[in-house]
Amino acid sequence: MNIILLGPPGSGKGTQAVKVAEYKNLSHISMGDILRKEMKEKTDIGIEAESYIKNGLLVPDDVVNKIALKAIQNSNKNGFLLDGYPRTLYQAEFLSKYANIDRVIYLDVPLEIIIERLAGRLVCKSCAAVYHKTNNPPKKEGICDQCGGELYVRDDDKEETIVNRFKIYTKETQPLLDYYKDKLVKINGANALEDVFESIKKVL
Ligand code: AP5
Ligand code: MG
Repeated sequence: MNIILLGPPGSGKGTQAVKVAEYKNLSHISMGDILRKEMKEKTDIGIEAESYIKNGLLVPDDVVNKIALKAIQNSNKNGFLLDGYPRTLYQAEFLSKYANIDRVIYLDVPLEIIIERLAGRLVCKSCAAVYHKTNNPPKKEGICDQCGGELYVRDDDKEETIVNRFKIYTKETQPLLDYYKDKLVKINGANALEDVFESIKKVL
């Protein structure tokens, strides 16, 4: 089974992707996590991506397409769950040449909630696990429950960058809702974390 998780920044793609991938035994492919790892390791891709990500802009299609193709080819035999890819029609067309998609799950969340979520987000430096200061806090302040790593605030979680990311999402990524309309299932992503997961499980 191959699944795409679609939704605006902060809609909970990463949070749900981890749970769904475990539930269905799928490879979780998070484009944002892959790009941040490249940035941390200061690879050529990471250096190129950094200026786009910092400003809330999309990394060029050709760069992310190559990364996605490699990740899909290395995914496990049960299939994959894409989180944060595709994000443009061009990327969706590219993907269609290499993989069949069974379901597209769209997490619908309004901008006010997104701002509140991203303003409180904490991410693990080592394993990229996602927390929220109040909605989903770690057991020990500043420390990852999963691996003991240090938690940090993402560079692109400043209010002006969030608004920019949302605008780009509306212009570039929202048209994918129509592109995938035959496979699309809309979920109310504004609900509590476990309720959103239950809704996704029902669909699958
Ligand atoms: P990426 O890392 O994918 O960022 P994004 O799409 O903006 O999404 P986020 O990771 O910010 O949010 P999310 O939906 O995963 O929400 P999360 O689960 O963390 O991409 C970053 C950048 O990389 C892009 O801006 C772009 O520059 C580049 N890039 C990536 N992919 C690209 C592509 N395909 N093409 C070109 N460029 C690309 O949740 C958010 C917070 O809310 C957390 O604190 C969480 O604990 C909390 N939360 C989650 N669910 C709930 C809930 N139900 N109730 C309460 N709180 C919740
Ligand atoms: Mg994410």
